[in-house]
Amino acid sequence: MVKILCGIFGCISEDVLEKILDGLKRLEYRGYDSVGIAIIDNNKIIIRKDKGKISEFIKNLDLNNIKSNIGIGHTRWATHGAPSKENAHPHMDCSGRIAIVHNGVLENFLQIREELIKKGHRFSSKTDSEVIAHLIEDFINNGLSLKEAIRNTFKILKGSIACAIISTIEPDKIICYRRESPLVIGISSKGVFCASDIPALLPYTRNIAIIPDDKIVILEKNKVQAEDINGEICKLEYNEVTWNLEQAEKSGYPHFMIKEIFEQPRAISDTLKIPLIYIDRAIEYLENKNKRIYLTGSGTSYHACLFGSYLASHLLSMDIRPVISSEFTEILSSLENSTVIAISQSGETADTLNAIRYAKSKGAKIIGITNTLGSSITNLSDVYICTQSGPEIGVAATKTFLTQLISITLLFLRYGLKKGKISEVDYSKLMSEINRIPKIIEEILKKSDIIKNIALKYSSKQNAYFLARGINLVTALEGALKLKEISYIHAEGYPAGESKHGPIALIEPGFLCIFIAPKDNTREKIIGNIMEMKARGAEIFSIITEGDEEIKEISDEYFEVPHIHYILYPILCTVPLQLFAYYVAVFRGLDPDKPRNLAKSVTVP
Ligand code: M6R
Repeated sequence: MVKILCGIFGCISEDVLEKILDGLKRLEYRGYDSVGIAIIDNNKIIIRKDKGKISEFIKNLDLNNIKSNIGIGHTRWATHGAPSKENAHPHMDCSGRIAIVHNGVLENFLQIREELIKKGHRFSSKTDSEVIAHLIEDFINNGLSLKEAIRNTFKILKGSIACAIISTIEPDKIICYRRESPLVIGISSKGVFCASDIPALLPYTRNIAIIPDDKIVILEKNKVQAEDINGEICKLEYNEVTWNLEQAEKSGYPHFMIKEIFEQPRAISDTLKIPLIYIDRAIEYLENKNKRIYLTGSGTSYHACLFGSYLASHLLSMDIRPVISSEFTEILSSLENSTVIAISQSGETADTLNAIRYAKSKGAKIIGITNTLGSSITNLSDVYICTQSGPEIGVAATKTFLTQLISITLLFLRYGLKKGKISEVDYSKLMSEINRIPKIIEEILKKSDIIKNIALKYSSKQNAYFLARGINLVTALEGALKLKEISYIHAEGYPAGESKHGPIALIEPGFLCIFIAPKDNTREKIIGNIMEMKARGAEIFSIITEGDEEIKEISDEYFEVPHIHYILYPILCTVPLQLFAYYVAVFRGLDPDKPRNLAKSVTVP
């Protein structure tokens, strides 16, 4: 699984500072909001870090006369704690003997942080990562060696971790650990290196090993040694990388969009690890009696709002209205005693920010759901939830959409549990269904060739309807938006029941109708809608639940997804439609990462 959140680079070599800064620049494509480095000089750790871009950081760097041969660096994409100098990595322990950089999300850091504070540790940042340095220090204070302390630390910490550590206790080593988040190492006559991605290592070596899950790797001059978490020596497998720089930035995928589609299992796993305290804080703003709740967003984020609205009705028996942000001020007048849940991956969409400002001016409270900590939406919201997708570079929203759906599901499920609208038993059942999603999506992605062939067959179509009923209307709208924005095929998402009130007039032999038809209570009616379209010569491509022979029979093409609780089908069924849009665009000779007339973040109203 590929993970992009932050960039790590470390090396033992000559001209370490230059190499770290160059390595971090090569990781810039991943997106970041702050930069930092730590080097060892005269048995002292020197740290420099700041919010902002690497070029600015270099301009202000005051380390000209330092000649170090060991160091680590980091580009941060904020997930816990806003972008700031304090929250930038590296982080240190209290004694100044240990510096760490981390990429990933720690699940149990709050509880450990509290315990360490009780023991006298002083924290300088609001990050989850800082706890790593303090925990290692705590074990050392209790008599353990540096390596033992590091092993114990990673046995205790839950979550995804790629970490590089330097210490004046053993000043000739960089100690790396990896679980779920990637960390690669390379060795050559130019030095020993670690990095969170291959492009950073390419100037020095093409002989690269991926650190296996749950392994510690100790880097020394001309030497690399891997151990398991109990200290048993193990082997690393080196491979010769033949990618050029551009291919390496995309982890070998031809486009960012497909890379990001394949990152979805990881993005969802990390979003499922959001500490409950963040969800509970948001719930406080939903709880007042007689409160009206609205959801607002634009484009794909609006589709997440629509999902939230269906979810609220089905799970909570509550009517929560979704409103497209650009229409918000036109359609809502009285917002007193209201809460608005505003969804935006970038956190900078002008229409959504305008809706938020308007709602606030009318007395509403705002819950933000965004992928970008430190963005305008996090500043304007009373409370926010940060989805854990990592930066999304392709213009078409993919992984950020699925993590929005997951976040809103977590929020409403927990709200329902607290309000007694969902029983403990149903809550647990649904949570175990949700926890299956990353694995299921991995399985769906393994079948991407099926979609590729269907995309080839339909890539020269000029029109497509995406039809569904109930909560899968969300999937239909999102599937149509994906297809139209990157393939320029005219595509419309419609409630299937509405299709006979006008849209059916366009159907003639060969018109493509894509039905989202998993097994839920709308299935019988959907079959009726498929037959109506088929009777008029439409070509039918259906997304169905595994083993649904009846819909297979009446479809020209189909794609099967595993069975899941019906309210979660949009999360699964969106994936084949993202793949479909991607492959159609590629077959039409278009660049899916840069669709015409579109920007990643629409900052004009
Ligand atoms: O950053 P936001 O989520 O606020 O962006 C909203 C829309 O501009 C965005 O979802 C757009 O529709 C995407 N290009 C869809 O793929």
